Amino acid sequence: MTAAVLAISASGFALQAPPQAPSRASMTAHPIPRLVQQDGRYALMVDEAPYLMLGAQSNNSSDWPATLPEVWSAIEYLHANTLEIPIYWEQFEPKPGQFDDSEVDLLLAQARQRHMHLVLLWFGTWKNGSQHYMPEWMKLDPTRYFHVMNKEGESIDSPSPFAAASLDEDRKAFAALMKHLNQVDSERTVLMVQVENETGTWGSPRDYSPEANKLFEGAVPPEVLKAMGRTSVTPGANWEAVFGPEAEVYFHAWAIARYVGQVAAAGKAVYPLPMYVNASLHDPLTPEVPVKYESGGPTDNVIPIWKAEAPAIDIEAPDIYLPGTSQYLKTLEVYHRPDNALFVPETFGAPRAARFFFAALGLQAIGYSPFGLDYTRTRPAIPGEPDSKNAFLDPTAQNYRLIGPMMREVALLNFEGKLQATAVPDDESSQVLHFGDWDAVVSYQFRRRPVENAGQTHNTSGRALVAQLGANEFLVTGIDCTVDFRPAGTPEQQKAGGIVFGTGQATSARIDGKWIHRQFLRVEEGNYVNGAFKFDRILNGDQTDYGLPFTSAPEVLHVSLSTY
Ligand code: DGJ
Repeated sequence: MTAAVLAISASGFALQAPPQAPSRASMTAHPIPRLVQQDGRYALMVDEAPYLMLGAQSNNSSDWPATLPEVWSAIEYLHANTLEIPIYWEQFEPKPGQFDDSEVDLLLAQARQRHMHLVLLWFGTWKNGSQHYMPEWMKLDPTRYFHVMNKEGESIDSPSPFAAASLDEDRKAFAALMKHLNQVDSERTVLMVQVENETGTWGSPRDYSPEANKLFEGAVPPEVLKAMGRTSVTPGANWEAVFGPEAEVYFHAWAIARYVGQVAAAGKAVYPLPMYVNASLHDPLTPEVPVKYESGGPTDNVIPIWKAEAPAIDIEAPDIYLPGTSQYLKTLEVYHRPDNALFVPETFGAPRAARFFFAALGLQAIGYSPFGLDYTRTRPAIPGEPDSKNAFLDPTAQNYRLIGPMMREVALLNFEGKLQATAVPDDESSQVLHFGDWDAVVSYQFRRRPVENAGQTHNTSGRALVAQLGANEFLVTGIDCTVDFRPAGTPEQQKAGGIVFGTGQATSARIDGKWIHRQFLRVEEGNYVNGAFKFDRILNGDQTDYGLPFTSAPEVLHVSLSTY
């Protein structure tokens, strides 16, 4: 891959990020977006430079000529750079084999007018575990395009992964979509495609049709044994014998992943865009029984099965609607794997969740996309949510206003392993980010002077991002927090132990029996314009004496440190 370079100019902190994307207009050919991996970190390369998707997902029924204006105006208000929006199978193939590209073409034209990228969501065989987006001609033939059968032998509201005719139709339709995209999108307006939507089945752990039962009684396929680390089992052992209580869920995941893998492969063969699947989650902290969560989709317990059965899928991604902070953070952690880039294609846009965007960045997320952020809102307002026109957009807009102008730099620094970002946990009022011989200390206290914080609760919306630009130079930003630095000692001194940090302001450390204090050499406030940091002013005095405070207003700092 192209070497990415960060250069710090001698006269301050011009952060350049070659290969900065050339302006889209000046390019004649745009390479196909691709996912790259280096040392377990991922980047989505768009025009051959790491790109951070600042996304928003439209409501389900928003992709129509009549409703698109209400989508775009919200996307622009958000300062998003990528719209995630469905393509409906029922609209795309109204009659067998007749494909209607008109909505895709309209979307592309309108996105380009607004210099916006797209992620297309293929609402095909599965949408939230059901088959509601199959074309009418398929819905009318449930014998051919059959449903999952539950334990009682009844057809339920979920497509069977063993319906060969459904698979065949989906493969053909998805390939037709990708073929058309390949023909009309040399500008690469579309960055990525989601294959199906929240696959799986609610209310039954698997299909109990005679065909499914026969396979369930048969031997576990070798690739599943390998993926789940069970290679030493008796040859020919069946699902129950190998996996015990997990057998049904693993079996259903295997069947669905195999189906979706074939749909994705058919599309990728004609146009190899990055592809992902999204999961309706189970709680990663408290094991649940599968009838309470959607069985068979790419939940964290079956990611290896999905990887083995659907290699054309690049990313297994979590739709995070879990209410608790620890559940949310744990979910980010379990989807951030050496073999899986972290991408959050759906989550709530509520004020309480806005800080998790930073927690995702801290795990090198390649993109983040709250759900339902357009003015077509068909859901009733959530009780307790402020109900002004833009209240539901503001938490996300605040994040994207801040990060948008430097999204290329953030993506590159993250890919290079130089960036850390974090969100306030429920039970701690400060956090420490380690950068070699400096620690960045993030505090979420309301008051700036430590003495004023005694007995105070802390801010619950705080988030911070710190990236190391040079040995003693940092990019720092955040919302509702204060960031400061303290010397952490050299790696040898850290290993030897015996480093004592000062209390209170905590910008000093006693290392090898001697107090070392940090001092700000220069704190520059500014912002990123076309890939370079534009200096506005030096902060000092009240603006730095008690650390570097960040409010809800967008503020980006370049900080240079030394010790005395
Ligand atoms: C998750 C689904 O993937 C979306 O399409 C939408 O139905 C949301 N749930 C609604 O909250």
